[in-house]
Amino acid sequence: MLQDDHIIKPARYAMICAWVVLIMGAGLALLASNPSFIFALKNFLAQKPSVKKPTTEKSFWVPPDSTLIPETEEGKLILETEEGKLILYGRELVSHTSIYLGPKGKVKAISNGMNCQNCHLKAGTLPFGNNYSAVASTYPKFRHRSGTVESIEKRVNDCIERSLNGRELPNDSKEMRAIVSYIKWVGKDVPKKTTPREAGIQTPSYIDRPADSVKGKIVYQNRCSRCHGQDGKGMMNANGMEWKYPPLHGENSFNIGAGLFRLTRFAGYVKANMPNDIATYEKPVLSDEEAWDVGAYVLSLPRPEKDISKDWPDISKKPFDHPFGPYVDSFSEVQHKYGPFASIQAVQKKGK
Ligand code: HEC
Ligand code: HEC
Repeated sequence: MLQDDHIIKPARYAMICAWVVLIMGAGLALLASNPSFIFALKNFLAQKPSVKKPTTEKSFWVPPDSTLIPETEEGKLILETEEGKLILYGRELVSHTSIYLGPKGKVKAISNGMNCQNCHLKAGTLPFGNNYSAVASTYPKFRHRSGTVESIEKRVNDCIERSLNGRELPNDSKEMRAIVSYIKWVGKDVPKKTTPREAGIQTPSYIDRPADSVKGKIVYQNRCSRCHGQDGKGMMNANGMEWKYPPLHGENSFNIGAGLFRLTRFAGYVKANMPNDIATYEKPVLSDEEAWDVGAYVLSLPRPEKDISKDWPDISKKPFDHPFGPYVDSFSEVQHKYGPFASIQAVQKKGK
């Protein structure tokens, strides 16, 4: 009988090998059908060896490849679908909003002439440039500003009504469907409920004095006026439809209900991205102090009003840098607007 065993050994061996291959194959197929595994794998493959040193850490979130949208400028036709065309139109609307929806807009005149990408850099794909990476993964979500669960459409209209000081776009319009499809495409590889480190805006380190608009004016003159103009009101493109350098205040700028009207948002955006031609998050040009001070200067200049009396229905949830009362604490509106913020935060933490 022992002999028999010996005889069938090669056959049995082959059988075992076949099973092992089968099981491993099935396991891999299972893993590969899981989007977060693919995401991790893609990131792993995209990493360079230098990533291990924390100081040179490359961005974790890599925006999807726009050449994979059908009919790009490069003429690549990879996904010739209706959805693809909608995504592409959405990207165009985010990049050149004013041409379609600005004061002389081809589709309708409902906004102030700014483009979404003036604030969401590179059509909302730039790491640390207020990008859209976390939108598809985190919306719909409850937001304290409105006190409701917000869809992506509602969030887009928030920016149209505040940052673009305009009127809302109907949810079923082709333009809204396109913008939402595009934003979802930008965040398509981000696992649900997660926010990449380089999404949105990062607040600079706090300073222990109020941000100073007098010092900020000097920063403005040295670092910003060459593009945004001596008066800060920007400069139009030759087409007269879009800004070459968008306005930072005045009637064509974002209104008092916009996110950038909060000092932490403004200082964070500017520190990581301005001056636009030389600054990056990894190599900022402004110091933290300069970012806070230039923010104080710009946000002390006049800009459009907005009825925000319905915002923050639960006032205990107002961000500490929201510049309008009432508040649950006894700090002044001026301190809520310009800081210092540490003492306000300490009180807010105690309350929780
Ligand atoms: C004046 C600057 C500005 C303009 C112009 C602007 N936005 Fe925004 N947007 C912001 C700021 C600031 C935030 C909040 C970022 C934060 O708090 O981290 C924001 C947030 C968003 C979010 C939510 C992002 C998230 O991760 O939760 C979406 C979606 C959005 N904007 C879409 C748009 C669209 C679409 C347009 C054009 C129609 C537009 N925005 C124009 C400044 C702007
Ligand atoms: C080299 C020219 C240049 C300089 C210098 C510059 N910016 Fe900008 N800035 C831009 C451009 C261009 C945009 C729009 C980016 C886009 O559309 O891609 C912009 C956008 C902005 C925005 C968002 C849009 C808006 O108008 O509200 C703010 C805020 C801003 N800059 C603030 C500043 C501040 C503050 C400084 C000085 C510290 C500064 N910038 C220096 C070119 C510049």
